[in-house]
Amino acid sequence: MSGDPTRSTSSPSTGDVSRETKDEDVSRETGFTVRTAAELAAIDPHFDADQTPLAAEARHSVLMRQGIQREPVGRPAATRVFVVANQKGGVGKTTSTVNIAAALSELGQRVLVIDLDPQGNASTALNIEHRQGTPGTYDVLVDGVSLAEVIQSCPDCDTLDVVPATIDLAGAEIELVSVVAREGRLKKAISAHPLVGSAALAGEERYDYLLIDCPPSLGLLTLNALVAGAEMMIPIQAEYYALEGLGQLLATVDMVRAHLNPDLAVSTIVLTMYDARTRLAAGVAQEVREHFGDQVLKTAIPRSVRVSEAPSYGQTVMTYDPSSPGALSYLEAAREIAIRGSVR
Ligand SMILES: Nc1ncnc2c1ncn2[C@@H]1O[C@H](COP(=O)(O)OP(=O)(O)O)[C@@H](O)[C@H]1O
Ligand SMILES: [Mg+2]
Repeated sequence: MSGDPTRSTSSPSTGDVSRETKDEDVSRETGFTVRTAAELAAIDPHFDADQTPLAAEARHSVLMRQGIQREPVGRPAATRVFVVANQKGGVGKTTSTVNIAAALSELGQRVLVIDLDPQGNASTALNIEHRQGTPGTYDVLVDGVSLAEVIQSCPDCDTLDVVPATIDLAGAEIELVSVVAREGRLKKAISAHPLVGSAALAGEERYDYLLIDCPPSLGLLTLNALVAGAEMMIPIQAEYYALEGLGQLLATVDMVRAHLNPDLAVSTIVLTMYDARTRLAAGVAQEVREHFGDQVLKTAIPRSVRVSEAPSYGQTVMTYDPSSPGALSYLEAAREIAIRGSVR
């Protein structure tokens, strides 16, 4: 240690910037501190220039041009039903639902998105008609209409279908209160669909992934999703209040698991709107990873203007700007989900 010349450059005076570059501040995983590769190599003998964000970016673009990332992945043995939920608004539920769905479809999977938010943002992003009166989730939940009758295909992705949500769904939360087995309505509809289930039961045309985009609340709509799905995906925005409210969410999951759906597992945590330049984001990410371990996807989704612009063109970022960091990250996240299988 004393033989390391780079350490003797620090001065004890105020404004000593080098004090901020101690080994423990350098996370090779997140690489959030901006220094040159040479500087890093000097401080940390284990520094690996191939693991820097810039290197990752470069690798991305090369892979992108080679088309490697879009190689299909294997199909799961049976339909995997994901509930994308977090009662906090604006954390990236809808964005993650539509982009992971589109990415999975690019990876050769058959995907169904169920829009369960009366705002219908997932329907908008996937360019699906959802004016008031359009048959959709409301009709399935309240009137017992079959899923097959309300499914539309996404114009931009060959193997992606959508059950739209209209503003009518806002009333469902109240209308369902008096309905028998009100929390099991969605599960019933999903199980009744002929293309949901194992290869043996649902055949080659079966859906591989079903993603349910939940509203920002823990009401009856979200409860229906939690009863219907086996895997839960929680998007967490990498910011200060990110972990607030998670306790309540996990308590709800425990309650559902104990009384309504023993199969439910939090299989996937996705960090969204990650700003690699801030220590805060890295800190939140670290805390989330310490708490949830392997459930957290290795790929964090960067904050990117292209991601937020895409819905206004009725597109996912996957088609709007396929080579952007946002699109590539969602593609990588989707690949991780597909490769890991269901984590139980
Ligand atoms: N990776 C990202 N980069 C930039 N903006 C994003 C990103 N992810 C989501 N957003 C924006 O953040 C806002 C909230 O995202 P959204 O997916 O609608 O959250 P939720 O469904 O949880 O309410 C939207 O305006 C969306 O465009
Ligand atoms: Mg949403």
